[in-house]
Amino acid sequence: MTKLKVFEVPEPVLRQKAEIVEKIDDEIVRILDDMLETMYATNGVGLAGNQVGLLKRLVVIDCAGQDEEPDILQMVNPEIIERSEEKGCRNEGCLSVPREYADVERHKEVTVRYLDKKGKTQTRKASGLLAVAIQHELDHLEGILFIDYLSSLKRNKLLKHLEKRRKKEAKEQEAE
Ligand code: NI
Repeated sequence: MTKLKVFEVPEPVLRQKAEIVEKIDDEIVRILDDMLETMYATNGVGLAGNQVGLLKRLVVIDCAGQDEEPDILQMVNPEIIERSEEKGCRNEGCLSVPREYADVERHKEVTVRYLDKKGKTQTRKASGLLAVAIQHELDHLEGILFIDYLSSLKRNKLLKHLEKRRKKEAKEQEAE
C-alpha cells in the first residue's frame, strides 16, 4: 500500500464534484486500500477521493476508537438514503483544513448505501461520530467542506488562522 498526498485548501480539486465509479476493478480496490492507509497514517477518521486528488466517488471511514476493533467502511458511490429529522452539533476537523476545528450542525442519524470492494450493495445505519463522518465525507464528493456551514465571518477567521500558521511553520523550517 502507498501513502497518498492529501490535498489541502485552497486546492481546486476540493471544490469539484467527484464522478460516479463505473467499474470496481483492481485499480479502484488499490486506491481504496491506499486511502485507508493514508487516513490511518494521518490520524483521520475519514477520507474522500477529492482529498487525494481523485475526482471519483470513493470514501473510506473508520470511526472506531483506538482500543476498539476497526470498523472499516470502504465505499464506492455512497449515497445517503435516510436522514433523521433530529440534528445535533459536533466539533469537526478535516485533513484538508489541517488543525482547524469548528462546530457543525448535522443530522443525528443517517443511512448510507454504497458498493463495497466486491461491488456488492451495502447499507449502514449510523449515529454519533460515524453519522457525522459519513455526512462530512459525502460532502467532499460534492466539493463541499465543513467550513462552508460557518458564517463567512467565522470561515474567514479560520482560514486566516490557518494561513498564518502555515507561514509561521514555513519560516521555522527555513530557519532550521
Ligand atoms: Ni474532510
